[in-house]
Amino acid sequence: MEVVICKTYDEMSRKAAAVVADVVRTKPKAVLGFATGSSPLGIYKELIRLHKKEGLNFSKVTTFNLDEYVGLPADHPQSYWTFMHENLFNHINVPKKNVHVPSGTSKDHAAFCAKYEKGIRDAGGLDVQILGIGSDGHIAFNEPGSSLGSRTRLVTLTEQTVDDNSRFFERREDVPRHAISMGVGTVLEARKLVMVASGKNKASALAAAIEGPVTCMITASALQLHPDPIVFADEDAAGQLKMTAYYRWIQNNKPAVP
Ligand code: GLP
Repeated sequence: MEVVICKTYDEMSRKAAAVVADVVRTKPKAVLGFATGSSPLGIYKELIRLHKKEGLNFSKVTTFNLDEYVGLPADHPQSYWTFMHENLFNHINVPKKNVHVPSGTSKDHAAFCAKYEKGIRDAGGLDVQILGIGSDGHIAFNEPGSSLGSRTRLVTLTEQTVDDNSRFFERREDVPRHAISMGVGTVLEARKLVMVASGKNKASALAAAIEGPVTCMITASALQLHPDPIVFADEDAAGQLKMTAYYRWIQNNKPAVP
């Protein structure tokens, strides 16, 4: 797995955004998987800059988001739909009809999830999926214990995730207990995975994910099963990794011919 340790959050964000931008330039009809949370915000800021200043064109792109809270309508201020529109979609030229964020308010969640999976397949599959990592090692909302083969489904959040995400809500009681989330198996089918991790509170989860055993207890460890994962971490998040010298060595000794 390629691990890129960056000095700052901005450097991490720029480098991760460059991977996504490359995919879009090479394949204008790319299918992009997006994530919410504070970690990928810098990527979105950079993608907006690349669009506005360098003409990065999203007009043929299709997007699928990882997850959404159950019970929050799309236009709720804390919904992931709102988050993505405010932080990315309203500022680039992706057609609104090509944007997919799971619905947390469908009448039949199972039917919705099956349709979401089919939507990804029919679009040709995800070319690249952006991921953050939860402090308990989750990706999307695949909490510890999620099957590594899981598909898009309704999940119950852990108390830790409810606590972590309560900073975005007025009261802890307002944080939904359930979400619709792509499964680990869904994520693993993306052709490329780009994970960003920032801050000391991610250090133990990141070390477990990258250097520990593959386990459903740290669903981010499933990246070890993927053919093309890249992890961008700032120095705080990389603080508990054991192989940092080798990761830096790799970056400084890239083969001349790829
Ligand atoms: C939520 C999201 C995840 C995200 C995680 C970490 O649980 N469902 O996709 O990775 O939060 O968020 P942050 O980057 O804000 O720490």
